[in-house]
Amino acid sequence: MRLDKLLSNLKYGSRNEIKKLVRQGYVKVNGEIVTDSSIHVDEINDEIMILDEIVNYRPYIYLMMNKPQGYISATSDKYHETVLDLLDEEYLRYDLFPCGRLDIDTEGLIILTNDGKFAHQLMHPKKDIYKTYYVQVDKPLGQVDQERFLRGLTILDGNDEPFTTKPAYLEIINPYEAYVSISEGKFHQVKRMFEAVGKHVTYLKRVQIGKLKLDDSLDLGEYRELTEDEIQLLLENDDKWEE
Ligand code: URA
Repeated sequence: MRLDKLLSNLKYGSRNEIKKLVRQGYVKVNGEIVTDSSIHVDEINDEIMILDEIVNYRPYIYLMMNKPQGYISATSDKYHETVLDLLDEEYLRYDLFPCGRLDIDTEGLIILTNDGKFAHQLMHPKKDIYKTYYVQVDKPLGQVDQERFLRGLTILDGNDEPFTTKPAYLEIINPYEAYVSISEGKFHQVKRMFEAVGKHVTYLKRVQIGKLKLDDSLDLGEYRELTEDEIQLLLENDDKWEE
């Protein structure tokens, strides 16, 4: 990749600003000062330094975050803070975006990446990746609710069109707490499914996507990179949901 493209992609400045910095001798490639910002570098194997800072380039980043309430799952918003506001500067160099949406008052597992192809796979409805939520409700749950969730419920989607949900698995912990696993992600889907059986969700937290569980050592607002194995787990369903 061209040196100026690499450094501007990583938000060290505009192409012109980079050109100036390079000309002024602030950039080294493998220990040697370079003065031409149009040279090609090997972004993976060359050691590139700007203003005495090592440039750590990686094509793709994958983070798991424990999203707190009060943050929007978007890259920008006029009125609220977004999940990107929780990231350190080193990650803001990459154009990360959240995969899918959690409501502003929903907590828990959200994936951030800059790998569009991966995000598409993860969110594609045909992939049927199950997401599991821990839910608290205001009225007691029973076996009849379990059966209705499994059979499918008719709720309104984001365009207020009626929509019948695919089989959802309700695991009741006690009458007011449960885990629910769904393979779709329509607007307010979990809340609307519970409303359809006469319950109001008072607390919602996503705890699992595919086979990947939220790392419970992450406090609200904390995040960490995923390992290679964890990235794969996201695209695999737990065996208990396979027919
Ligand atoms: N379902 C909801 O109702 N809200 C979320 O944030 C996620 C799933």
